[in-house]
Amino acid sequence: MWSRSSRGHELSMTRRGFLRAAVGSLLAAAGCGATRAHGRGETTVTQDDSGIVQARFRPGAVWLDTEGTPIQAHGGGMLIHQGIYYWFGENRAAETKRATLARVDVIGVNCYSSTDLIHWKNEGVVLPAVKDDPEHDLHPSRVVERPKVLYNEATRTFVMWMHIDKSDYGYARTGVATSDSPTGPYRYRGSVQPNGADSRDMTVYKDDDGAAYLFHSSQWNKTMHIVRLSDDYLQPTDRFVREFVNRSREAPAIFKHEGRYYCITSGCTGWDANPAEYAVSESIMGPWKVRGNPCIGAPEEIATTFHSQSTFVLPVQGRPGAFIFMADRWKRESLDDSRYVWLPLEVKGPSIAIRWHEEWDLSYFDA
Ligand code: GAL
Repeated sequence: MWSRSSRGHELSMTRRGFLRAAVGSLLAAAGCGATRAHGRGETTVTQDDSGIVQARFRPGAVWLDTEGTPIQAHGGGMLIHQGIYYWFGENRAAETKRATLARVDVIGVNCYSSTDLIHWKNEGVVLPAVKDDPEHDLHPSRVVERPKVLYNEATRTFVMWMHIDKSDYGYARTGVATSDSPTGPYRYRGSVQPNGADSRDMTVYKDDDGAAYLFHSSQWNKTMHIVRLSDDYLQPTDRFVREFVNRSREAPAIFKHEGRYYCITSGCTGWDANPAEYAVSESIMGPWKVRGNPCIGAPEEIATTFHSQSTFVLPVQGRPGAFIFMADRWKRESLDDSRYVWLPLEVKGPSIAIRWHEEWDLSYFDA
C-alpha cells in the first residue's frame, strides 16, 4: 500500500515499480483476461493477448497510464486531433500543503495521448513550472489550473488556455501558451483579466465555424462571462456576455449537439463536491436557460455530482450523439490522489442526464 509519505513526485519510480509488481502478480494469479482488483483494491485490470494491461472506465478508481503510473491530469480537458485524443491536465504529483486552501506547488501541465480513451501514453509535462523566477505566472508557488487546448486551423497552432492565480486566488487571471505540436513544448505567452474582469475557473470552446470562446467565472465567481476569442485564439475580444448572473457557478464544461449548446457547471465550494447544474442555449452567447441538475441517482449522489466536479464534456469520435462527462473527484488531503469520474452523458433534446456506472466502456453507446 502507499503511505502518505510515498506520494511524492520524486518517488514516482518507486510507485511505478510497485504498481507493475502489483498488477503483474495479480494477473499471474488471475490468468489472462481475468479481472481483479490491484494494490488499492479499486482498479480493475485485465490483460489482453498482447500482454497489455487494460482497464474499462472505472469512475473514481486509480487510473494508470501505459507505464503503470497513476495518471496526473486533473481539471483536465481533451483535444481531438487527427484521430488522437490528447488529455491535458494539472500534474499534482507532489505533497499537498495545508495552506488556507489545500494546494500542491505547480509542476506543470501534463499531456497524455490515446486512440481508444483506455490506453493513455504519458507525453510528459508539456508546460512546466518556471522555478527560477518567483514573479513568473508559472512559478511553483502560483496556481495553474484547468488547462484546455484548442487547435487553430488558420495559424496551425495549438493554443492552451488555463487559470493562472496566486496561492490566495486573488490574482484571478487567465493564461495562454502555444505550440506547433499537440504534445508541446508549449511556450507561455502571458496572462490577462479579460475585459478587465477577474477570471478563475474557466474553459474554452471551439465552435463548428472555427470561432472560439472563453467561459470564465468572474465577479468573485458570482457570474460567468462568455468571451469571444480573437481569430488566432490568443486574446479575448471585447465581445462578451454575462450569464448565470449571481448564480455562483464554476467549473464550466461546454458541448454542442444538434444545434443546441449545453453548459454544465458546479457550485462554488472549493475542493468539496456540490450539485451540478446545466443550462441550454440556441446561441453560445446566450441567452442561456438554466434547466437544473443533470445527475440522476440517490440523493447523496445528486447532491455531490457523484462526489465530483465537472471539467469537460468529450464528444466521442465516430459516434455522433455520444458524450462523456469528465469530472474530478478531488481529495483535499492528498490532491495528487484525486480521481477521475467519467460517465456517459445522455442527451434528449434540451434535456441531459448523467447516471452512475461502476464500470463501463464505449459499447454503452452501441445500445
Ligand atoms: C474549486 C475550483 C478548482 C480549484 C479549487 C481550489 O472551486 O473548481 O479548480 O480552484 O476550487 O480550492
